Amino acid sequence: MKTKILTILSNSDGYVSGQQLCEQLGVSRTAVWKVINRLKEEGYLIDSVSNKGYRLLSQPDVVTSEAILSKLQTNYMGRQVFSYDEVTSTNTVAKQLADEGKEEGTLIVSDKQIQGKGRRGRYWESPKGSGIFMTVILKPKMKPVYASMLTLVAALALNDAITDLTGLEAKIKWPNDVVVNKKKVAGILTELSAEVDYINYIVVGIGVNVSMKDFPEELKDKATSLLLESGKSIGRAQLIAKTMEYLECYYERFLKTHDLSELKETYSKVLINKDQVVRILTEDDSYTGVARGITDEGHLIVEKDNHDLVEVYSGEVSV
Ligand code: BTN
Repeated sequence: MKTKILTILSNSDGYVSGQQLCEQLGVSRTAVWKVINRLKEEGYLIDSVSNKGYRLLSQPDVVTSEAILSKLQTNYMGRQVFSYDEVTSTNTVAKQLADEGKEEGTLIVSDKQIQGKGRRGRYWESPKGSGIFMTVILKPKMKPVYASMLTLVAALALNDAITDLTGLEAKIKWPNDVVVNKKKVAGILTELSAEVDYINYIVVGIGVNVSMKDFPEELKDKATSLLLESGKSIGRAQLIAKTMEYLECYYERFLKTHDLSELKETYSKVLINKDQVVRILTEDDSYTGVARGITDEGHLIVEKDNHDLVEVYSGEVSV
């Protein structure tokens, strides 16, 4: 009921009468009043005027399930939310929940992580209240070898959501970093549970630097936050909901072909590496070339100095 009341108040510009809320939700005035009080305690600024009703004046920047669900317009992506104050890593919690059989689209969000994981075993800084730390469970029926494509699908969704809500020109650094003004604002860590030829589930972990104002010395040149770049405070619940909307849309398009043929053009448009010189670092090689786009499988197409085209499917790319 809290989510429903919050949704009604969020979607209304003016006052909503107590009577209207009671009728719409089929509950008593006292029940409505209790929920309004609880929301006020949580930091929602709600004006209550007798004979007029309730009006939402401002919302706290929280990542509770009510805050997210009241803004969500999807069919299944993010429809079931598990929200925490603190976890080790949302990916770890997501894997436990997926093992228990939680359905596709289930979203795990935390206000803070104490063992945030980055790609290649790196640590992901996850301070309380200033970032988005979330993981979504997906269960595509396809071979495990294709799972990495979903990281690119998620990057596209995140990139669009960030662009929409901040007005910043966000770009993707292949395969899945979101960058603004050449600095990283978000990263994705996809993990897989699979049999040899069957995916049990995939967890797509997304970390966004939303309102961090300072970064450790070694990251200052490489990382930034949405607040630092836009000067605006971005509501985390709103950004989570928007990302889920784009993710549902792109994921559905991905499922039609089980590859990126439908999305590669859109992806290439926001690829920061497109037509730029890139240095590729693999386990046993390093070379430069010009990035030309991605293949249907999400591999980076690189034109070497001798004009040979090579497909890069893993490794680090530096711009
Ligand atoms: C990267 O190295 O760029 C990937 C970073 C992914 C961080 C997110 S935060 C939510 C989820 N939980 C984790 O422990 N990691 C991912």
